[in-house]
Amino acid sequence: MADGGEFGGAAAKVDEARLWQRHVDMAKLGGTPRGGVRRLALDTNDIAARRLLADWARPYGWQVSMDAIGNLFIRRPGTDNDAEPVLSGSHTDTQPSGGRFDGIYGVLAAFEAMEAIEAAGIRTRRPIETVVWTCEEGGARFPMGTMGSGVFVGRTPLADARAVADYDGVTVGAALDAARTALADLPERPLGFPIAGFVECHIEQGPILEEKGLTIGVVTGIQGARRFRVDVEGADAHAGTTPRARRRDALSAAVAMVSALEALFHDDPGDTVRFTVGRFVVTPNAPAVVPGHVSFTIDFRHPDEAVLTKLGDQVEPICKAHARACTVTVTQTSRGKPITFLDPVPSAVEKAAAGLGLPYLRMNSGAGHDAGPLQLAGPSGMIFVPCEHGISHAEAENATPADLAAGARVLAEALVELAGR
Ligand code: GLV
Ligand code: MN
Ligand code: MN
Repeated sequence: MADGGEFGGAAAKVDEARLWQRHVDMAKLGGTPRGGVRRLALDTNDIAARRLLADWARPYGWQVSMDAIGNLFIRRPGTDNDAEPVLSGSHTDTQPSGGRFDGIYGVLAAFEAMEAIEAAGIRTRRPIETVVWTCEEGGARFPMGTMGSGVFVGRTPLADARAVADYDGVTVGAALDAARTALADLPERPLGFPIAGFVECHIEQGPILEEKGLTIGVVTGIQGARRFRVDVEGADAHAGTTPRARRRDALSAAVAMVSALEALFHDDPGDTVRFTVGRFVVTPNAPAVVPGHVSFTIDFRHPDEAVLTKLGDQVEPICKAHARACTVTVTQTSRGKPITFLDPVPSAVEKAAAGLGLPYLRMNSGAGHDAGPLQLAGPSGMIFVPCEHGISHAEAENATPADLAAGARVLAEALVELAGR
């Protein structure tokens, strides 16, 4: 073993107050009156979050760089700088009415862990890098999730990602070019490079850890997800004069489709199926007009690939069966298989949690994360901490400073283990 002491030395240097204050500072970038955060991918606040991180890194002399998809890297050198680095991080973007922890916690925990490892005087063999992955939150602004991590690992061609447009027609390419201009001083990092592993801290976003009174989730995998866009085409018509038989009402057809889908997409009492119509856009959305167009999304998740196939393949026939006088187009916008995280990452996380005496549970993730695509580049894994009432993707999202720090302690030890001494 090189210098830096025994197990626990890095964890001991995690500073709970500093980590909390960094969350407070970040929450100002896009902070909402109701205590949440609206920081959409590559908007001015998302760019400001990258700038703030780069400012925090400067006193350490750690190199900050950005790649072609806007992923930001902060690198703490190792004793062998030709060795593949161990990466840790998450995302700075949020849902439109998002919270103060989803995403940013994983970034700040990674940075805190690097600061703690530095303060403990530990020299790791491999470099350790804090990463911000661009646009994790699919559909919050751009309709493509885990975009930055997906491009990094080669799942998504850069050109495909750049062509994606937000709801106002602004492309990722244009937003990236603006981010590049704003952060012109940061060196360009080549897109995609070999890594030794990836660990992501995150609030659980569900109720399990809190209910069981546990501090750490050792995440073993992520359930699969299929997402669809459904476009229902009818015809605009006068609300006062158009007889029922002549209407091609896209809204009533869409409502019939959603009702029929909801009747099928559940598995009570197991309650494992996750089915959500989260976006529903009526056009022209005027009181005196029979709606001629509806566009809605379906987010369907399950841990079992066979169920994803069997149920998910029902979406199109059910929508077609309830189209009434309208036409309907169903487009699958993404499909992610269930993921099992590979050692050495989950075992390093478990060893760290156990070694620090923290009560933990091995568990699967219901939410999607950058750690999913990262598995294509190297072994990845995650550390969950509880969040209040399991609430997330909401302004009410909350977590305690103590739990956030506990997750960062586990991360610091896991990173030391994975980066080697
Ligand atoms: C990511 O935030 C997801 O929707 O799971
Ligand atoms: Mn997240
Ligand atoms: Mn999220």
